[in-house]
Amino acid sequence: MCGIVAYLGTREATPILIEGLKRLEYRGYDSAGIAVIANGTLEVARSIGRVANLEAALSDLPDTNATLGLAHTRWATHGGVTEMNAHPHQDDRHGIAVVHNGIIENYASLKKYLQEKGHTFQSETDTEVIAMLISELYAPDEGIDLEAAVQGALREVNGAYAIAVICQSEPDTLVCARKGSPLIVGVGRGEYIVASDPSAIVAHTTQAYALDDYNVVRLSRDNIRTSTLENVEVPPKVMQLEMELDQIELGAFEHYMLKEIHEQPARIRTTMRGRIDMKEGRIVLGGLAAFHKELVRAHRLILAAQGTALHAAMIGEYLFEDLARIPTECEYASEFRYRNPIIDEGTVIVAISQSGETADTLAALTEAKERGALSLGVINVVGSTIARETDAGVYLRVGPEIGVASTKAFTGQVTVLTMMAIYLARRRHMSAERCMTLLKELEAIPDKMASLVAQDSTVRGVVEKHVDRDNWLFLGRGYNYPTALEGALKLKEISYIHAEGMPAAEMKHGPIALIDDGMPVVVIATQGSQYDKVMINIEEVRARGGHVIAVATEGDPNIEGHADDVLFVPPCPECLSPMLTVIPLQLMAYHAALIRGHDVDKPRNLAKSVTVE
Ligand code: AGP
Ligand code: GLU
Repeated sequence: MCGIVAYLGTREATPILIEGLKRLEYRGYDSAGIAVIANGTLEVARSIGRVANLEAALSDLPDTNATLGLAHTRWATHGGVTEMNAHPHQDDRHGIAVVHNGIIENYASLKKYLQEKGHTFQSETDTEVIAMLISELYAPDEGIDLEAAVQGALREVNGAYAIAVICQSEPDTLVCARKGSPLIVGVGRGEYIVASDPSAIVAHTTQAYALDDYNVVRLSRDNIRTSTLENVEVPPKVMQLEMELDQIELGAFEHYMLKEIHEQPARIRTTMRGRIDMKEGRIVLGGLAAFHKELVRAHRLILAAQGTALHAAMIGEYLFEDLARIPTECEYASEFRYRNPIIDEGTVIVAISQSGETADTLAALTEAKERGALSLGVINVVGSTIARETDAGVYLRVGPEIGVASTKAFTGQVTVLTMMAIYLARRRHMSAERCMTLLKELEAIPDKMASLVAQDSTVRGVVEKHVDRDNWLFLGRGYNYPTALEGALKLKEISYIHAEGMPAAEMKHGPIALIDDGMPVVVIATQGSQYDKVMINIEEVRARGGHVIAVATEGDPNIEGHADDVLFVPPCPECLSPMLTVIPLQLMAYHAALIRGHDVDKPRNLAKSVTVE
């Protein structure tokens, strides 16, 4: 997803802006641009492709000691990937430049109006409409300065935006605003660094202001003013950025994805730390304490998410029903929000999101809240929009996840959902003894993960035999049906191999027709309640020439006679097994992408946080 960086201060803006864009590259983008104001003149440079291309284009800019500027990495929604469509977008009258994350839904009608007013558009984007609308309203001689023009323009637009705006006739002013897309104002010593997420700010300061929807912020050399679109002043919300710079550095690893796969044992220990009370045999989740009674009496849970978070939510559905005996349904947030859902007394919605900024998940949350549901968040990024919009929640605490393909956030989400299910089960019907037994097994998971992340070369040896095959299947049952979906998503999103996950039994209802000689079929066949059934599915695959790669339990004496390749995981209770079985699948995707020569951390077309619909 796009990234915004803006700077107003005493240092030269350009290097700070470029470094900030590089910190945001992991979010995914297709083009980039920068605008600075130096000596009362607006200078702009844009390029398609990587930020490195923009740096090369900067040599076209005259040397400036500009201390005000903004920059952007674009993830195109309206208009192709061209230099002309790259941000910043300028107006045609006052030397105004705008960068934008989001979608202006009524841009066509606004564009028509502005063209009738004589404005000349250069691009195909919706964003350019914002620049021209501000320009149309800007009348400093009549008291409508940049801040007022931005307020006026945003009163006219529908859709989602995070924007930063500068104007060459106001060289000491930076105006920002947000609705539905993230934006944070970092406050340094005599300087402000505005960005889409903390990773572009923490190198300079950890003091920040969080913007709420419909906030407009005017930054000047020695002052900050936050207001509504109607120019009603509101106090800025101070926040402390918790991200540490070393957390977003690559360290000794070749890729963030590999670093984050290997971090899982340590990060999951942090996720659990202080939340497992072995003395009392219970889970302690301080973030839920204020709603303890409502949760214990909940009649129904709705788990809403997208992508990998949805797969974690699907495991959550099994956990809440199996352990806590609460009716639970898992929903694509993007479908739930438009489905006219029934929300009755005792319904709780749980929004699951690594970034806490996914537009569809935020919208599903809002829809359920408006219909009276209690709302919880299972989020990684502290202070993110969804985290701030929910009544309560549980943070993953797995640290910033930079790789676009989500790994430690997935195991973090499953760990939190497991703890929430045990938290509720213990307060509803689960005995202290059964709870204690399960908690001991849960505490043992990180060490078991550690043995798996070291399996790099074994997994690579299996993958390289099949990496030229363009169609794979992933099969699983029960708790590991969603894990099969997650394995398929990992493989397809970074190796571009087409992969499909499904319940193992479903294969016979059509997909078995896909199986031809040597087709790789990954089957999660760990010891559990449906092991025998899965073994039958393996035979059905092999009878048709499929090549079975089994994920099985260490010590299984049977599996090697039935599968072509076996990746073993340590034994554990079935309800905890996804935290282990997913790791070989993560490594499988990683090595397939490497062997196929793809950019593991920045896969094509993908964004780390999908803040547009
Ligand atoms: C997962 O590898 C993908 N990057 C993607 O499916 C992601 O899980 C999805 O966009 C949801 O993101 P979120 O957890 O930040 O809401
Ligand atoms: N909708 C705008 C465009 O297509 C902004 C996209 C983004 O968030 O990067 O340029």
